[in-house]
Amino acid sequence: MTLSCSVAVLILYLTAGSGDTVYDTYTDFVEEDFTPQLDYKDPHWCHSPHLANGELICHSPRGGAHRSTLDTRCEMSCDRGYRLIGKNSIHCLASRRWSGTAYCRRMRCHVLPLIPYGRYTCTEGFVVDSRCDFTCDTGYRIEGEHSRTCQHGGSWTGEQPVCSDTDPPKIRCPLSRLKIAEPGKLTASVSWDPPTASDTADKSLDVILVGPEPGSDFKEGPHIIRYKVYDQARNRAACKFIVRVEVRRCLQLSPPLHGYLTCSSDGNNYGATCEYHCDAGYERRGVSSRVCQFNRSWAGSPAECVLMEIKSDVKTTAALLDQFYEKRRLLILSAPNISDPDYQMQNIMIQKSDCGLDLRHVTVIELLGSPPRETGRIKESQLTSEVIEGLRQIFRISRSYFSMVLLDERGRDRERFIIPMASDELFSYIDSFLLDEEERERLELHRDFCD
Ligand SMILES: *[C@@H]1O[C@H](CO)[C@@H](O)[C@H](O)[C@H]1NC(C)=O
Ligand SMILES: *[C@@H]1O[C@H](CO)[C@@H](O)[C@H](O)[C@H]1NC(C)=O
Repeated sequence: MTLSCSVAVLILYLTAGSGDTVYDTYTDFVEEDFTPQLDYKDPHWCHSPHLANGELICHSPRGGAHRSTLDTRCEMSCDRGYRLIGKNSIHCLASRRWSGTAYCRRMRCHVLPLIPYGRYTCTEGFVVDSRCDFTCDTGYRIEGEHSRTCQHGGSWTGEQPVCSDTDPPKIRCPLSRLKIAEPGKLTASVSWDPPTASDTADKSLDVILVGPEPGSDFKEGPHIIRYKVYDQARNRAACKFIVRVEVRRCLQLSPPLHGYLTCSSDGNNYGATCEYHCDAGYERRGVSSRVCQFNRSWAGSPAECVLMEIKSDVKTTAALLDQFYEKRRLLILSAPNISDPDYQMQNIMIQKSDCGLDLRHVTVIELLGSPPRETGRIKESQLTSEVIEGLRQIFRISRSYFSMVLLDERGRDRERFIIPMASDELFSYIDSFLLDEEERERLELHRDFCD
């Protein structure tokens, strides 16, 4: 409500309740002649006071109900959320006007700044009692107050919140997988696609692999592969999956009686090959090797080691030697007669080392005497005179003195001795020059067997 601000040049004898006389400031200029007829009883001396969004408390000399009589004084106050602009107290003047003007203005808080990665909505803008609620973009979370309210004094409650990225990224690992070890190996090469990672806030993510690279060779058993991912705010997520490698195995192959196996790889894994070998004095009957197949069964059927049978009553030297070809070595021992001292000494030394000779796949042939009482034998089996003669000719063995000839597995004349040899000397020669790598290893394993 607006009241005229003009000040009437009047003398006012205002009598307060106390009876004091109050003089107006402009008393000096007042001319008494113009003093109007003041009517304290007129209930509408001034117009009715009114204050929008506020309250007037008026005191009239005539009592509370009279709000517009001369000399009524009104105290003005604004409603909550409004501020009084102008005088906070007016009174009804003799000029029939109110002494001042005032109005209630709505109070406002300052405009709230925007927050990064978020926004707010307010119930009533920025006026008093309006509440502004903050929300963050997806992937961000509010830190601080969730809302601020404009207070009566024009200030906001609380502090401005921030939206921070507290949402961890998401990562999905590939599925766990089972791989069969490759043939002849105990490992498998396993590949996979790297996991996909996403984050509500970030586009660029750091995906870190903890463990072997895809395409690596994995050993038998389970392997845990982990991936970690960090977003820009260092929120972390992780996933894992399992790579399991299975080695398919056949039942362990049993070695043949009187023989042994040499196997590749791990002995009974898929793709492993086992070769059959026979002990000295035995020969293989059946397949030379078997492979462990994918369906966990061995290809073929087992081989056997059967006692080597030497036919001594063959007609020709070739027929005799063929029986030893690639199987046995021969030591041909020749002497003029059974009482030859070199022969006797050699005979004693050899008989003691029968086992050692067998381990080295050596068969002894003895040729003794001269025709017509010439003898030839392998252990107790007698050779025919044609064969004896043949051996003497092929290997040029004299009847007139003691000698020994050592033949390898292919029947080749490898060494000659004309004096008796101690068995360890003879063996050391055989071990160094006639045995192959595998026979040497085998011999190491069974050396004690002869003691
Ligand atoms: C295993 O597979 C081989 C051929 O791949 C087949 O001959 C054999 O019968 C199979 N054995 C078994 C027990 O299924
Ligand atoms: C055996 O041979 C030797 C020559 O080496 C000879 O002196 C000896 O008389 C022979 N003995 C017999 C019983 O024939």
